[in-house]
Amino acid sequence: MNTNHPDRTRPDPIDSAKQKHHLAVIYGSNREDRLCDSVAQWVLSRVAALGRYEVEIVDPAAMNLPPRLGSEADQALCDYRRSIGWADAYLIVTPEYNHGYPSVLKFLIDSANEEWKRKPAAFVSYGGQSGGLRAVEQLRQVFGELHVVTMRDSVSFVNAWDSFDVAGNLHQPAAANGALASMLEHLDWWATTLGTARRTKAEPAMA
Ligand SMILES: Cc1cc2nc3c(=O)[nH]c(=O)nc-3n(C[C@H](O)[C@H](O)[C@H](O)COP(=O)(O)O)c2cc1C
Repeated sequence: MNTNHPDRTRPDPIDSAKQKHHLAVIYGSNREDRLCDSVAQWVLSRVAALGRYEVEIVDPAAMNLPPRLGSEADQALCDYRRSIGWADAYLIVTPEYNHGYPSVLKFLIDSANEEWKRKPAAFVSYGGQSGGLRAVEQLRQVFGELHVVTMRDSVSFVNAWDSFDVAGNLHQPAAANGALASMLEHLDWWATTLGTARRTKAEPAMA
């Protein structure tokens, strides 16, 4: 028996569960005139077309963020932490800034802790020649500390400003649509698997 391939005769845990995952779509940019709106709108339209998710948007530009980390009483951050805790999967839409990811995204990540743990995250990135992949590789390191499982394959847009028209539509959507759908299949699998584990298995003690 070839153990590298799943047994296709067994019921698919996603299909049999018939449950909608809770997906937080997190915007990585709050820049004036950001491209993030176009990329995220495409992501959201594809996610809606799949019909498998309840979605909450986390948009730092809409949050009136406090100037300092750790403002326990700040309503925007309370709401944000509730969204991160509600979600059983994350989809991060991030540009690349100076070979990394934007500082506002780090502020968001660091403003929650337990809410992130033992859940999966996937990435859609964009930028210049690297398509934002350097930002994604840095995010993998950060999420490792938070016990977030990151999807191996991501979706990226090289020279992203050329990929979208002024209305925010992709010039050539077929390949990106396929890549996003494939990535979301993996995210679903991990969301189902980790959700079951969180409900049924005690967590090992932290070192
Ligand atoms: C401060 C800043 C730094 C940037 N650094 C990089 C970079 O290192 N690599 C890259 O590919 N693109 C870089 N870019 C280009 C951005 O990835 C691109 O402009 C993207 O559209 C920015 O996302 P936003 O418009 O949603 O904020 C940078 C843009 C800004 C504003």
